[in-house]
Amino acid sequence: MRPFDDIDRLAKSPALDKVAAPLRDAVHKVLRRQDVKDALHGVWLGHPLHPMLAQLSLGSFVSAGVLDVVPRTRRPATALIALGLVSAVPTAAAGWADYADGHEEQQRVGVVHAAANGVMLAGYAASLVARLRGRGGRGALIGWAALAVGSAGAALGGHMAYHQAMGANHAEGYPHIGPGDWTDVGTVAELPEGEPTRRIIGDVGVLVVRRGEQVHALADRCAHASAPLHEGRVTNGDGPPCVVCPWHGSVFRLDDGAVVHGPATAPQPTFRTRVRDGRLELAVTGYAAVPAS
Ligand code: FES
Repeated sequence: MRPFDDIDRLAKSPALDKVAAPLRDAVHKVLRRQDVKDALHGVWLGHPLHPMLAQLSLGSFVSAGVLDVVPRTRRPATALIALGLVSAVPTAAAGWADYADGHEEQQRVGVVHAAANGVMLAGYAASLVARLRGRGGRGALIGWAALAVGSAGAALGGHMAYHQAMGANHAEGYPHIGPGDWTDVGTVAELPEGEPTRRIIGDVGVLVVRRGEQVHALADRCAHASAPLHEGRVTNGDGPPCVVCPWHGSVFRLDDGAVVHGPATAPQPTFRTRVRDGRLELAVTGYAAVPAS
């Protein structure tokens, strides 16, 4: 058996839902404001925020652990632990925001990841107190123990990102496998006005929306977690037309696939469109360059 097979068992354990589901609901209750959620997901960055912040927290703790074995470096080690604890606040907030919009299997691993990190942070808080009271040796020992627990938590986080594809761009493959050549998908007349519709070209599904003379075409698989965007809704209010994902509510601009609201942070790949003799043709384009502003 491989070591990480046990993590798969966590992901398949419904018993964890007793903790995971109430935590998810609690996060949704606390995080109501869309701008705060977008900031924590990393929409402004075009990249998930949590893993970037986690580097600062865990990097500080690892560095402190190294300094604790180097003579006369206990004060900078103490400063690094304080930095790690302070930076853990936004790191955890971003992680909980992502957690709340994950799927069940990710959340089951996520609660164990969070528990390990909680134990690690409690350990580092105790380590900091010991150091500030002049008991540096004791603080170092507690710090190393906390680092061991935190490393296990980080491994779970890596599993969520790389094995369970949490935070990954689920539409990344479109520009590589979508047809670059013009491909016929039927007549324009059969497309309902303003309604999301699905077409297949080559091996990929495409969201197609006709608005008057204009036809928009985006990857149908949501970049956040693979939802079928053609089952979402098209916005018709002020501002540019968008599609809202049916699963977690990410909003993508129809013109260019840019992210207006998360949890998605990567834009939807787009398709070029043209009409010939009343028939619609599509060809894959690529990604929107920047997040929507
Ligand atoms: S699948 Fe989560 S927002 Fe689309």
